[in-house]
Amino acid sequence: MNEQTWHAVDDWFSDRLIGADEALDGALAASAQAGLRAINVAPNQGKFLHLLARIQGARRILEIGTLGGYSAIWLARALPEDGTLVSLEFSPENAAVARANLARAGLSDKVTVVTGLALDSLDAMVSDGTPPFDFVFIDADKRSNPQYLERVLKLARPGTVIVADNVVRSGRIADPNDHDADVVGLRDYFDRLTQDARLDTTAVQTVGSKGWDGFAITVVGG
Ligand code: SAH
Ligand code: DHB
Ligand code: MG
Repeated sequence: MNEQTWHAVDDWFSDRLIGADEALDGALAASAQAGLRAINVAPNQGKFLHLLARIQGARRILEIGTLGGYSAIWLARALPEDGTLVSLEFSPENAAVARANLARAGLSDKVTVVTGLALDSLDAMVSDGTPPFDFVFIDADKRSNPQYLERVLKLARPGTVIVADNVVRSGRIADPNDHDADVVGLRDYFDRLTQDARLDTTAVQTVGSKGWDGFAITVVGG
């Protein structure tokens, strides 16, 4: 087993389960053309998020970390006609690429990409009394996950699902000698998840075209 076989299996699944998709393929091509780093979720991971949001019946979705809008397309496609996705992105350049990709996907009416530091945008939504989100995908600077969680819980309701990407980082999460700020932030994120009696969480490791990583999945209780 090695990264090459993980890739081959991801390609095998993506060929069969997703196939060619003009909006998704175009978003990746335009993102590469604009010089964005290819750190979007894999196609089968994007579909995993999409299915989770549909299973949950999400009408209001929040994403932290837009990049070129690849995961945003998957999430927005899970929404009903009158559903909404708000996606937060620090980089105006990334946000512009994402907005163009979402427009080409026919999703502009459902998606708002908010430019700025995610913490500022979250604080603004909290003070504006923004209605709760049903589903939240956290995928920005991992060191800030603890602060994101604190704000997200103010924008959540009982039943809200919170998914965090990249919680394994090739095993670094469990390496006590690894003191990288993002890894430390992710450990703090798990500590907060487990210390809050309202929250129920699991985490699953993934291998594939994105290497060895994983998701944390949380449901907010009553
Ligand atoms: N969810 C995307 C990938 C996001 S990559 C997908 O799978 O398609 C992480 C993104 O978070 C980058 O675009 C980066 O610019 C953004 N980001 C990093 N720090 C941020 C911050 N403090 N506030 C908002 N966005 C941030
Ligand atoms: C990185 C960020 C991501 O969200 C991801 O899925 C993979 C890599 C990164 O910053 O390196
Ligand atoms: Mg990620």
